[in-house]
Amino acid sequence: MVDSQITISLPGLEDGRKADEPCTIVIFGASGDLTARKLIPALYHLHIEGQMPGSFHVVGFARREKTDASWRDEMRAGVETHSRTRRVDNAKWNAFAANLSYHRGDLTDADAYAGLAKRLAGLGDPCLVNNLVFYLAISPSLFGEVVDQLRTADLLHRMEEGDAHWQRVVVEKPFGHDLQSAQVLNNHLLRHVRERQIFRIDHYLGKETVQNIMMFRFSNAIFEQLWNRESIEHMQITVSEDIGVGARGGYFEEAGTLRDMMQNHLLQILSLVAMEPPPSLAAEDIRNEKVKLLKSIRPMTMEAVATNVVRGQYFAGIVNDDSREGYRQEERVNPESNVETYVALKLFIDNWRWSTVPFYLRTGKNLPLRASEVRVQFRPTPNVLFAAQDNLDLHANALTLRLQPDEGIFLRFNGKVPGNSIETRPVRMHFGYDAEFGAYTPEAYERLLLEAMAGDTTLFIRRDEVETAWQIVDDIREGWGGTSLSNREFYAAGTWGPIAADDLLERDSHKWHNPKPAQR
Ligand code: BG6
Repeated sequence: MVDSQITISLPGLEDGRKADEPCTIVIFGASGDLTARKLIPALYHLHIEGQMPGSFHVVGFARREKTDASWRDEMRAGVETHSRTRRVDNAKWNAFAANLSYHRGDLTDADAYAGLAKRLAGLGDPCLVNNLVFYLAISPSLFGEVVDQLRTADLLHRMEEGDAHWQRVVVEKPFGHDLQSAQVLNNHLLRHVRERQIFRIDHYLGKETVQNIMMFRFSNAIFEQLWNRESIEHMQITVSEDIGVGARGGYFEEAGTLRDMMQNHLLQILSLVAMEPPPSLAAEDIRNEKVKLLKSIRPMTMEAVATNVVRGQYFAGIVNDDSREGYRQEERVNPESNVETYVALKLFIDNWRWSTVPFYLRTGKNLPLRASEVRVQFRPTPNVLFAAQDNLDLHANALTLRLQPDEGIFLRFNGKVPGNSIETRPVRMHFGYDAEFGAYTPEAYERLLLEAMAGDTTLFIRRDEVETAWQIVDDIREGWGGTSLSNREFYAAGTWGPIAADDLLERDSHKWHNPKPAQR
């Protein structure tokens, strides 16, 4: 029997893989890190894999003096250093780079936008001139200014049904720093464009394994039947990083881990893991379910924050044989900073499916390794038969969705150790992406750029989604109330976080399940 492969076509994506309408991508922040590390490498890969529209153009917009040629060279170096293949084929690069041009301009200068309009008009093909993706890889404080300027320069229009051409705005995180600022920003953007023209990025949604959560849940009857309070005792979501804040101390002092990771990536994973099945795969149907889920999270009262949320900050330590400074010693960090580099929390989802099931989420910097996992802990068997025997190592079943690296899914169950005794041992069934599908795992930004060009908003965050997530984070921040970190909230770099985070689970007779290093 031959395994059949099922392809699901997303609206606007011809055969599920290719954006086919010619368009121009204008990247604001073209000399920034994101452009060289992620955006251009992603576009280059889409190009060599034949997924770009037959005709496209990329304009890099930034303040520094550069020529088309010098920007192209920088971008090539970016692909060579940061792309997933790190290899550049001369002929393919030249074919790609012929579509790149650089536009020097100040983001606040109207003339720069008039110049941009002229440059775009010069592209000739009406689709390249009018189908525009504006990618805002710039400081969030300038998002509003840029859309105002684009509107004034007549480059951005509110779309109506039946319009021949389209413009879209892709917005990088952070989208605001609290609920109020997110609302102000949303109102600002929506003065010029419709919600369906706004593509708010959470790059975790571009990850293959994160997309697979929905597929896994809703195409496998054996798991979906167990996916509720009757069978699941608790869930853990861990996103651990083995890096510190590095050169981003200035940003991090303003953000902290709660805003930087929990508000977006972890809450997004949670909503995919816990939401109800959507009525269809349409973007709005999926996003409705995610919002419903976020709205069902029990509000974090001051009391709940005090008992169920743990923050932490790393001090000097060793990660992977590499000694690390403490957060307070990092560049552009206040030596008395109370900003958190770690957050662990317990929350409840007050709906029919999840009532009483605790969800434990944690994320932190300078932990022992880089790994993201969802661990589904099933309830134990009744305490009879094997479980009632003394000294038996009987573990409840657990399912681990390993999101990165070493992507895969593991199911743990008990097996009888061969021999005359009734000794049991936990064993694992293992699905690995590599073994099953080979090493090809597109970068998150490839998928996200492709979807933005195709006009599918499924993998982007809707207005009510981002605002609901901010409400949760604001409640936690209010609970912290600007207090200083206590001793129990510090952790040595290279450990799994502060002691207080272990206590959070021990109180419920649970333990964190620490991800294992990649097998490769
Ligand atoms: C970003 C955060 O959104 O995600 C960073 O700003 C973090 O602080 C990064 O390091 C993690 O992403 P990934 O894809 O490496 O897990």
